Amino acid sequence: MTTDTARPATGPILLGDALSSFDALWSPRILTRVNDYDVRVAKVLGEHVWHVHENTDEFFLVVEGVLDIALRDGETPEDERTVTLRRGAVFVVPQGTWHRPRSADGASLMLFEPSGTSTVGDAHDPVPDHVDATTGHALTR
Ligand code: NI
Repeated sequence: MTTDTARPATGPILLGDALSSFDALWSPRILTRVNDYDVRVAKVLGEHVWHVHENTDEFFLVVEGVLDIALRDGETPEDERTVTLRRGAVFVVPQGTWHRPRSADGASLMLFEPSGTSTVGDAHDPVPDHVDATTGHALTR
């Protein structure tokens, strides 16, 4: 899925400006593209939804705040653990791993994943109203 509005910018993009340009939570903006990958930014607060990306890993970088990602990657489907990502932390959720991001006090994130990747994956629990099921929105600048 490609859109003209998300083509690479012809000049520098300041991360701070990009993050200041929107307030919506759990609703990523496409900062730029690298080959067939999106570089997205998102603001988050509270809980996302359990979901899985069957065919792609998902890269997280915490720009501000703290993000917890609950993972079901243990010996049994019931096994859960949580990784806590502080500002500057990078983590990759492997493809096929159920996960649920959460931030108690709010965070700003950068994500790197193939264009067209849905925020709620290929399978998910019921999506709450506060979660935007999207493949990313164009940044308005
Ligand atoms: Ni995900």
